[in-house]
Amino acid sequence: MILQQPQSTDAPAPPAAKAIFEPLLGRSSEYDRAKKILNAGRHPTFVGRDTVCRNALQGGLIFAAIDDADAGVAVVNVRTSTLLVLCVHPKYRKAGLGAALLEFLRPNFARVVESAVPWFARNGYIQLGDYKQGRSLRTAIMVRGGLTELCGRLATIYAAGCACSLTHTNETPAAKT
Ligand SMILES: CC(C)(COP(=O)(O)OP(=O)(O)OC[C@H]1O[C@@H](n2cnc3c(N)ncnc32)[C@H](O)[C@@H]1OP(=O)(O)O)[C@@H](O)C(=O)NCCC(=O)NCCS
Repeated sequence: MILQQPQSTDAPAPPAAKAIFEPLLGRSSEYDRAKKILNAGRHPTFVGRDTVCRNALQGGLIFAAIDDADAGVAVVNVRTSTLLVLCVHPKYRKAGLGAALLEFLRPNFARVVESAVPWFARNGYIQLGDYKQGRSLRTAIMVRGGLTELCGRLATIYAAGCACSLTHTNETPAAKT
């Protein structure tokens, strides 16, 4: 698996997620509610009823409300911890809501259209492999940066022959010598 490093080490630090919002769990019957935000926000890909409803049944449809108004929506495949859709209503953009919602959801992976890859990179996600050509747009899978750090630390511990890594083979550190 190829991990693509952020393009520049001079990239600005992830912005602080400041926006205060109320997360609301959407129901599988609320496609029209989600679609209203997606249409207003000109979401770059078409998001079908099936995607919204299927994931809503698993608890993966989340609205971000500000002052009782829907300001954003996200769809997550909770089984794979993959963000499929993220859209902030234009009226509420550039105020940290997108970053705050992403930080709240903390999906391990995100399926991201090419134009939004820099935004996810700003928010700590790293592109995995190459773009995949969709019907009209290219998409990439991105992984939460913290996840690779965790894997890196585990890899280091295992490589150093930590006792916990020997439990697989029923060896003890002493028996290994
Ligand atoms: C991407 C999106 C979710 C960001 O929401 P937001 O609430 O404005 O995000 P934040 O306030 O946390 O961040 C805004 C900052 O990101 C920048 N930004 C927005 N879109 C960007 C992009 N595609 N690439 C790079 N930077 C971007 C803004 O210019 C702003 O910069 P500033 O803080 O220097 O002014 C929102 O623009 C959106 O809904 N876009 C349409 C749907 C979309 O593309 N979703 C992602 C597809 S998976």
